[in-house]
Amino acid sequence: MENKTRMKNKYKKPTTLNCYAGSRYRFSLMVCSFIGCVLLFHVYFLNQSQHSQHAVMQMNSDHPYYRELVEVEDDGIKIPPPRKRSPRAIKRKPKRPTTLIEEFLDESSQLRYIFFPGQKTAIDPLNDAGNESLYYHPGRIWLDTDGNPIQAHGGGILYDDRSRTYYWYGEYKDGPTYYAHKKAAARVDIIGVGCYSSKDLWTWKNEGIVLAAEEANETHDLHTSNVLERPKVIYNKNTNKYVMWMHIDDANYTKASVGIAISNSPTGPFDYIRSTRPHGFESRDMTIFKDDDDVAYLVYSSEDNSELHIGPLTQDYLDVTNVMRRILVGQHREAPALFKHEGTYYMITSGCTGWAPNEALAHAAESVMGPWETMGNPCVGGNKVFRLATFFAQSTFVLPLHGFPGVFIFMADRWNPADLRDSRYVWLPLLVGGPVDRPLDYSFGFPLWPRVSIYWHKRWKLPYKWSGKN
Ligand code: DGJ
Repeated sequence: MENKTRMKNKYKKPTTLNCYAGSRYRFSLMVCSFIGCVLLFHVYFLNQSQHSQHAVMQMNSDHPYYRELVEVEDDGIKIPPPRKRSPRAIKRKPKRPTTLIEEFLDESSQLRYIFFPGQKTAIDPLNDAGNESLYYHPGRIWLDTDGNPIQAHGGGILYDDRSRTYYWYGEYKDGPTYYAHKKAAARVDIIGVGCYSSKDLWTWKNEGIVLAAEEANETHDLHTSNVLERPKVIYNKNTNKYVMWMHIDDANYTKASVGIAISNSPTGPFDYIRSTRPHGFESRDMTIFKDDDDVAYLVYSSEDNSELHIGPLTQDYLDVTNVMRRILVGQHREAPALFKHEGTYYMITSGCTGWAPNEALAHAAESVMGPWETMGNPCVGGNKVFRLATFFAQSTFVLPLHGFPGVFIFMADRWNPADLRDSRYVWLPLLVGGPVDRPLDYSFGFPLWPRVSIYWHKRWKLPYKWSGKN
């Protein structure tokens, strides 16, 4: 009897042990299933994102020039050896190597010609009918059809269905740069908002100053001594009016308001209505965005530029409603440029470093009111310094390229704080879901959004089949 029991017990594992083994088995099964699920999800999402990248490629691969948009060159800019200094001077003040950003900001830098090439290389639509026709050269002087440098800084573009024409509005800065006082930022007095028209997005006709500065009345928002920046225009179907929103400030940037103007025609003249602090908050860099359902939104840097605010405009686009959300809180972003692709909202912003270039970031959201997520630096090509400085420019607008879903023009300003009127335009192709340029870094999370990429080119043109919106 004892023997039998022993025999039985020999094969019977203690209950506790049995239970432990079972749970260990279940536990490993759970861990394996979890890892399996994570891997499956990961593969699924990677597939999804590759699929959408592929979709864009597919959609456009029959256009011979499409590939040119994403094939970027490296810009091998080398800093020349430091100027010779005497051993005594070196001892007195040892000099650290100059950064490319410092060279960019230094008016007497030997590298200045790289960032601000001279008149000889200007893009001239009237005299460039040959090989250079329709090519963008980011950073070069860009002439209008009268042969004058285009003055539309911090601008944006409206496509007017009625005239089937593009209108480019921006700061007309053709005046002397000066400092209102020692601690102030470099400035040009308000001259007004410049407007240029085009059918091909390359040849621009000057339509004049569509909102002019006020010279006599010192208390007027548009008095020459104030600040008018980043004007944007949208069309209101209900009122048949063209509505302009802009950043209005004093020379010290303490007024921090938005201004609103209105016109019956895209080429003005615009009547200035008033300025306001939207939702009662400071508003500096700003933009407006009109959604597919015709609801328009104001986006502005607020709370000392530490966050952005977004809110819908009233139906006539002449005011904000009382709905507002804080977005990118604590991220200190400005120069917002908003766009939409396949139901997802995207935004490019810059950091806050005055006229000096800094790193752009791309953000995405399922709803325009947020929450917005920051995806990372969208810049591809050039070299590392170029990418970290948004190609030495700052975002202002992103224009969809009609007929090419997922393809946009990224519009940015290469500010020249020494002579603001000579600030340049950096227009580059921006693709949503374009090919990935470096290993994905999702910290073992999922790539939730398609990639937004801005591709550097010294010279590029729109896909050859693109011919306006007509
Ligand atoms: C950065 C802004 O983006 C520009 O529009 C302008 O306001 C400068 N700051 C002024 O320093």
